[in-house]
Amino acid sequence: MRILAFESSCDETGAAVVECELGPGSLPPRLRAHTLHSQIALHQPYGGVVPELASRDHVRRIAPLASQALKQAGLSIGELDAVAYTAGPGLAGALLVGAAMAHSVAFSAALPVLPVHHLEGHLLSPFIDAAPGEVAFPFVALLVSGGHTQLMSVQGVGRYELLGESIDDAAGEAFDKSAMLLGLPYPGGAALSRLAEGGRADAFAFPRPLAHDGSLDFSFSGLKTSFWTRVQRLSTTEGEGLDAALRADLAASVEAAIVDVLVSKSLQALRRTAHPRLVVAGGVGANRRLRERLLQASQERGFELRFPDLRFCMDNAAMIGFAAALRAQAGLAALRPAGDFAVHPRWDLSDAGLGGPRVRVGPAAAPSR
Ligand code: KG4
Ligand code: ZN
Repeated sequence: MRILAFESSCDETGAAVVECELGPGSLPPRLRAHTLHSQIALHQPYGGVVPELASRDHVRRIAPLASQALKQAGLSIGELDAVAYTAGPGLAGALLVGAAMAHSVAFSAALPVLPVHHLEGHLLSPFIDAAPGEVAFPFVALLVSGGHTQLMSVQGVGRYELLGESIDDAAGEAFDKSAMLLGLPYPGGAALSRLAEGGRADAFAFPRPLAHDGSLDFSFSGLKTSFWTRVQRLSTTEGEGLDAALRADLAASVEAAIVDVLVSKSLQALRRTAHPRLVVAGGVGANRRLRERLLQASQERGFELRFPDLRFCMDNAAMIGFAAALRAQAGLAALRPAGDFAVHPRWDLSDAGLGGPRVRVGPAAAPSR
C-alpha cells in the first residue's frame, strides 16, 4: 500500500510517501519520500504563529511539496493507494488546506482518504527511523511540543491512554515565553537551550510546579510568572539590562526547572505503568538537557529510551504517513471516499479512529482504484 501523506496543522507544511505491506507477517512501513517547509521565519516578527498567514503559506507550499515527494519516491499519483492527512487537532484554516489538498488528489485519482490524528503521528514517530523490532509496544510516550505536553501509555496501534497532561501552558510554550523575556526570537526554545550551555542551572531556584503532587499532570504557568518576575526585578536593579552571564544563568535555571519536571513525571509514569520503555516525541524532544537527563536515568534504572530522529521530532508528514500505514496494517484504518470532509481543530485522541463511513482495509478488501 502506497500512501501520500500531508501535514499542515500549524506552521509546518509537509508531504511524504510511506509504503507498507498488508497481511500477516508484514514488514514495518517504509518511508519513501519526505519533504517539509517550516514557516518559522514568516511568524518570527509577530512572536507567535499568525493563523491567517499560516493558512496562506500552506496554500502556497503544499502542491509543490507533494510533487517533490512523489518525485523523490519515483511514483505518479496513479500508483498511490491512499492519501492521508492531518485532520486535527490544530489551526482550523491550516488543517483545511491539508484536508482540501488530500481530498483533491484522492478525488482526481479515485483513491480513498485517511484522516489522521496529529498526536497519533507524534506517538508513532519513533517507528519511522527504527530498524524492525527496535521499538516495541508497550511504552510510555512523553509528548512535548509547542502546543502539547502529555504522558501517554501506548499499548499498541490505536490503544492509547492519557496518563497526564499540562493543565495550562505546554512545555514548548514555557521555553518560548522564557526565551522571549530574554530577548530571543520566536520560537526561542532551541536558542534558550544554547544560551543555557554557558550558565549555571542552580543560579536561580525556580519552582518545579506539580512535581510531587502525585498526579502525572504538568503546570508551567506559575513557572512563567516566577521567571518573568525575576527578570523584571533583575532588569530594574541591573539598570543597563542583563549582562551575558546573568542571561545564561537565567536560561540555564529555567531550563533546569522545566526539564526536572518532565523527567520526574516521566519516571513516575514508567513506575506506574511498569512499561519497559520511554519514547520522547515533539519539538522539545530536541532539548539537550532533557536528552542527557533521561539517558542517565535510563542507564541507572534500566528502561529503554528512544528519541525519534530530530527531523521527525518536529511536525512533519512522515509521521502522518506512518500513523496511517500502521493503522492500515493493524486493520484499523478509517479509509473513506474522497470528497466529503471535516477537520477537527480540537480532537480527543481517544476518538482518533472513530466516526464517519469506513472502508475496511486488508489484502482481500483493498479499495478499488
Ligand atoms: O513539535 P514542534 O516542532 O511543533 C509543535 O509545537 O507542534 O515543537 C516546537 C516547540 C517550540 O516550542 C520550540 O521552542 C521547542 O519545540 N523546541 C525546543 C528545542 N527545540 C525546539 N525547546 C527546548 N529545547 C530545544 N532544543
Ligand atoms: Zn506537533
